[in-house]
Amino acid sequence: MKLKALLAAAALTAFATNALAAPIVIKFSHVVAQNTPKGQAADYFKKIAEERTKGKVKIEVYPNSQLYKDKEEMEALQLGAVQMLAPSLAKFAPLGVKEFEVFDLPFIFDSYADLHKVTQGPLGAKLLKKLEPKGIVGLAYWDNGFKVMSANKPLKTVDDFKGQKMRIQSSKVLDSQMRSMNAIPQVMAFSEVYQALQTGVVNGTENPPSNLYTQKMHEVQKYVTLSDHGYLGYAVIVNKKFWEGLPADIRTGLESAMKDATKFANDVAKKDNDEALAGVRKSGKTQIITLTAAEKAAWKKTMDKAHRDNMTRIGADIVKEVYTATGYKP
Ligand code: LMR
Repeated sequence: MKLKALLAAAALTAFATNALAAPIVIKFSHVVAQNTPKGQAADYFKKIAEERTKGKVKIEVYPNSQLYKDKEEMEALQLGAVQMLAPSLAKFAPLGVKEFEVFDLPFIFDSYADLHKVTQGPLGAKLLKKLEPKGIVGLAYWDNGFKVMSANKPLKTVDDFKGQKMRIQSSKVLDSQMRSMNAIPQVMAFSEVYQALQTGVVNGTENPPSNLYTQKMHEVQKYVTLSDHGYLGYAVIVNKKFWEGLPADIRTGLESAMKDATKFANDVAKKDNDEALAGVRKSGKTQIITLTAAEKAAWKKTMDKAHRDNMTRIGADIVKEVYTATGYKP
């Protein structure tokens, strides 16, 4: 009897110790494939964050909209059902932070170097701060790349867009951009795009090559135009209450892992997109169109309307600050 009681007490102690040592779980949900810049960076973050916190934190990465689609993941973060996300900068306005749509303005960045002047400067930090009243902390910007335009007809001139139904992310700037070309924009979750293209619910879309290729969109799009007309990248965000409730040493470990994961993301982004484009080319399923300088200038001139139409929405001061940083001229 005495032995039984002792054993029970020992089992209880072991259980309590285990419970105490149970790692803090961070669910990191995203919508793209693992072999994309964001997918790889999320996996890298998991690896180094777990190492640096010495097993006290477990990061569970859920790629490819496995757990949540675009809109749902934002809600899940605010409710605390997931702790970390890296949504595209084009998806923050539904949260009430329209300023992030500055990143969607067509032709506003000519290069990653231009972009980094904003994301790695004071304006980038100021924009992340705007998330805090929404219960979200912005930790970093992760690059993806410059967008191509795809469809089942060649898109070269502005007239080619007329009446084309184009899938966009939930950004009013992207809506204006497509309307300026006389196309018909349609907001749709990323996870639904392949099927919508395949069945003809939409005719075309825009994305950096890494997303196009890893979702096999090129298999259901006859033409891809190398236009670099806009940028797509991410903000890595966490639930504020969760983040601020972490023990300080754990938060420091995670911050240092995030710093290195950000460097990793930004180092692989261009290479991944170049390789994805090479993959599209090699597949032979899609014809790749290069714009002449004059054609590109005509797109820019037409799409400039998206800048004028969204100046007040985004905030003229923010747009002008980016113009100054990047040297954008209408
Ligand atoms: C899209 O919806 O097209 C992108 O935001 C997907 C992503 O996260 O790169």
